[in-house]
Amino acid sequence: MCGIFGCIVKDANAAPTIHASLKRLEYRGYDSVGVATVQDGKLYLKKDQGKIDEVHAVHNLDDLPGNIGIGHTRWATHGAPLQINAHPHVDCSGQIAVVHNGIIENFSELKQELEGRGHVFKSKTDTEVIPHLIEENLRNNLSMSLADAVLETVKRLDGSYAIAVISTKEPDRIVCARHESPLVVGVNEKAVYCASDIPAFLPVTNKAVIVEDGELVTLSLGGYEIKKISDSKVVAREPKLIDWTPEMAVKQGYQHFMLKEIHEQPGTLRNTLRLQEHYLDLMATFLDRAHEVFLVACGTSYHACLASSYMFSKLAFLVTYPVIASEFVEQHGKSVNIDSTLLAVSQSGETADILAAVNAARQRAATILGLTNAIGSTLTRVSRVYIGQQSGPEIGVAATKTFTSQLSVLAGLALRLAKKRGKVSQDEMDFLAEKLEKLPDTVETVIQTQEEKVKQIAKKYKDAKAFFFLGRGISTATAYEGRLKLMEIAYVPAIAFPAGESKHGPISLVEPGFPVVFICPKDETYKTLIGNVMEMKARGASIIAVIEEGDEEIKRLADDYIEVPAGTPEVLSPISFVVPLQLLAYYMAVEKGYNPDTPRNLAKSVTVK
Ligand code: G6P
Repeated sequence: MCGIFGCIVKDANAAPTIHASLKRLEYRGYDSVGVATVQDGKLYLKKDQGKIDEVHAVHNLDDLPGNIGIGHTRWATHGAPLQINAHPHVDCSGQIAVVHNGIIENFSELKQELEGRGHVFKSKTDTEVIPHLIEENLRNNLSMSLADAVLETVKRLDGSYAIAVISTKEPDRIVCARHESPLVVGVNEKAVYCASDIPAFLPVTNKAVIVEDGELVTLSLGGYEIKKISDSKVVAREPKLIDWTPEMAVKQGYQHFMLKEIHEQPGTLRNTLRLQEHYLDLMATFLDRAHEVFLVACGTSYHACLASSYMFSKLAFLVTYPVIASEFVEQHGKSVNIDSTLLAVSQSGETADILAAVNAARQRAATILGLTNAIGSTLTRVSRVYIGQQSGPEIGVAATKTFTSQLSVLAGLALRLAKKRGKVSQDEMDFLAEKLEKLPDTVETVIQTQEEKVKQIAKKYKDAKAFFFLGRGISTATAYEGRLKLMEIAYVPAIAFPAGESKHGPISLVEPGFPVVFICPKDETYKTLIGNVMEMKARGASIIAVIEEGDEEIKRLADDYIEVPAGTPEVLSPISFVVPLQLLAYYMAVEKGYNPDTPRNLAKSVTVK
């Protein structure tokens, strides 16, 4: 997730407006920043790694000439957060500049093709193919307009994008386009704007036009023209009046970032699934070679590791050891050696306990692999191979969208490894890959159809003194995560166990009305799990079941149930089954009057041991 912005202003320089707007988009990414403007046939460009204030202190982002320009605040996906990889990116001639939010899946093929035609690339980004493609189109047809060159360019892109383009050849217009990344246009008497998000221009105009997928917009001081990319037909659309306060706008109208981030999951999962295959293949090769694999993490990331240990075992027949990072050195430190592999999973890539475990393992010559949301973080620097999960910045302290993305990467990794090891048939492989691709839609359905119901359940149980979360098999990890969410933001004491273990102690807590949440996918554990539901019911527990749609058997037993679309294979089930539990925790916190975004005593990234 990055932030893009562009503007043309009457009788003033654009740079200060771009700088101020990027500040308001900084929540979308903050590892590097850049601005490009045009004046008198010349392109001016300033960009660098670092937060906007840091870069401004060195380069003065307000000091670029021209009344037209674009800007970008970056959250790295392809290429480390270095000056060279910061946007805007330019063509060979330095006349076309582009900012981009999204992921171009076919950039390697395009880059190869363009290099073959003599284009010279400077960065490691996927974005840089865009200015070169535009340049190529203009080179091949000297009478082509910038808008047409962009139109022909985006037709060749696979993946997601929101882009804004300027050129010295047409210094009075910005061309922007979108596919699966957000883009809005803003207008007032003095200027025209395009941005990833309304907050970017809300202080200067509340008139916004939402650009739809598959549309290209040309901005000029005369206004805007929208065209369909597929057939170039002009689309008429009037601006809407936005009545959000700036604070509401940053949350896109959601009451809290956490709710916004829960709702973002279909989109973030789609982005995660766009991961470059070769990174997954490379990491799978390392895992295949390993004698022993430790999955090391904290908090929510640990639950992703726990779930993935079932995935690796069931799909690729690889035994892995999920370990809580703060225990790693004590528990396994002495036995780690050159044949050990440690896959560290950390959203921030900066958690002190994880880095300590990694350092200890490195000293003993172990191989370090990393999965993180923060390219450029310490974890990426110390890993032999790392994968960026591509979820964009997460502001709510409680991890939600980053958890489901971690699960999706780990599932993809287990699948690659299974293929490498010949452990799954072609049919099974295709089936699982197709189901993984469908998960964003499944998650979307869960949110659309079950949110209201979860809200009612939260109202009903808001005064419960404690909660139980139970699941079997891979759903044990889902239960642990549901419990953590509820505990950390709604401050409800909660315990989670593998359901089979509940009768070895925890069941003694149960008395009439005690809420027990069961995670019930129809997998191999289903029949046994029903026995566990009966045990709890017999003791008067209130059963809240997360079930597959149409599961009449558990519906009859449960006091309340939440339905998830049927048909997701067991190894992928945590991704859809955890979503109702995120919503439950969120609405419990809201019911109890707590702010779920900033739970007491907790930090997003814990950098002390
Ligand atoms: C903190 C956060 C959790 C997170 C954990 C691990 O406790 O509050 O949400 O799961 O750290 O963070 P990491 O960045 O390493 O995934």
